[in-house]
Amino acid sequence: MTFEEMWAELLPVGRSASSGGYRRHAWNSADAECRAWFEQQATNRGLAYELDRNGNQWAWLGDPRGDGAIVTGSHLDSVPDGGAFDGPLGVVSSFAALDELRDRGTEFTRPLAIVNFGDEEGARFGVACIGSRLSAGVLGREQAYELRDADGVRLPDAMERAGYDPAAIGADDDRLRRIGAFVELHVEQGRYLTEDQPIGVASAIWPHGRWRFDFHGEANHAGTTRIEDRRDPMLTFADTVLSARQQAELAGALATFGKVAVEPNGTNAIASLIRGWLDSRAADETVLTELVERIRQSALRRGEQDGVRVELTRESYTPVVDFDGPLRDRLAKRLGGVPVLPTGAGHDAGILASAVPTAMLFVRNPSGVSHSPAEYAEQADCLAGVTALADVLEDLACQ
Ligand code: GLV
Ligand code: MN
Ligand code: MN
Ligand code: MN
Repeated sequence: MTFEEMWAELLPVGRSASSGGYRRHAWNSADAECRAWFEQQATNRGLAYELDRNGNQWAWLGDPRGDGAIVTGSHLDSVPDGGAFDGPLGVVSSFAALDELRDRGTEFTRPLAIVNFGDEEGARFGVACIGSRLSAGVLGREQAYELRDADGVRLPDAMERAGYDPAAIGADDDRLRRIGAFVELHVEQGRYLTEDQPIGVASAIWPHGRWRFDFHGEANHAGTTRIEDRRDPMLTFADTVLSARQQAELAGALATFGKVAVEPNGTNAIASLIRGWLDSRAADETVLTELVERIRQSALRRGEQDGVRVELTRESYTPVVDFDGPLRDRLAKRLGGVPVLPTGAGHDAGILASAVPTAMLFVRNPSGVSHSPAEYAEQADCLAGVTALADVLEDLACQ
């Protein structure tokens, strides 16, 4: 099956007819279809299929218990109303690169694996990269058991309902120890690869995290409550959003409120509670910490003025990731001196980098749009990505 055929098979899975975007959220039915697709691709190629203790899927060429394995892959889940490329491009390219290497008659001296990490986007349980975090021991089993989705469903229950056994979730040291290198191919998510640069290599991932602001006010009648009697958390929230943007610009960093929940969410009622989720990222950890603190101080100040109590909870945090230097240089050299660039987007590769020599390849994104149905990459660039990945895997798995 060619790259184009695999792409066409995955394209309709979990796609909204109205927006064209995807809702492949962890353990939902679209995710299950993607997982079935992955398993089918593995068995079609005679690869050994394996589901690990955290629900990540593996397809092995060579001995899954062998040492120094070269692993590639990405994820198949999406953000709410996400694009087609973020995640799937890496998985489809991995199968296509393996096919290309078989066509070349490459003889591997190390095991090679393709992986689909579960719940990379964190769209359902609020923490990104759950599959890789669990495996790397960065997310503890007890913490994972407490995660709930918007309907109150706990992560282990969601796994169980989808037919997976959550009993064994936790750090997978043995598996990670046997990996010699992990390379994730991903669509670039900004507009940082220019006209004559279809492929890049990642240098680093900015530190980033998610914080939940709870603004507690008082529900009351929209038509009868005097202005001076109101404790309206919407005002505090709105002011905090503006302040976050201002502070981020001053710091040369990023701060985004992209998700909000309102209680009771009635048009003719002052809200009692606003929950706003802040995603913030910066090139430097100190800058990021100071930025979030400044946003918090500003929310507290405004809350006092509005009679609104403000609480802040950090839901996840990923420190700066500097990818393995020798591996990064080796990839860039093998690909003929392609650009080396940092990214503000999180990836499973960033999580694995704490345990395994890890690198990333980026495929050009002409518009720079991502986490949106409009996300796009040219077919020619995707195919260039497949060849680049094949070249890199050949270099690594035949030594
Ligand atoms: C994941 O794509 C992230 O960077 O939030
Ligand atoms: Mn993403
Ligand atoms: Mn991704
Ligand atoms: Mn991501």
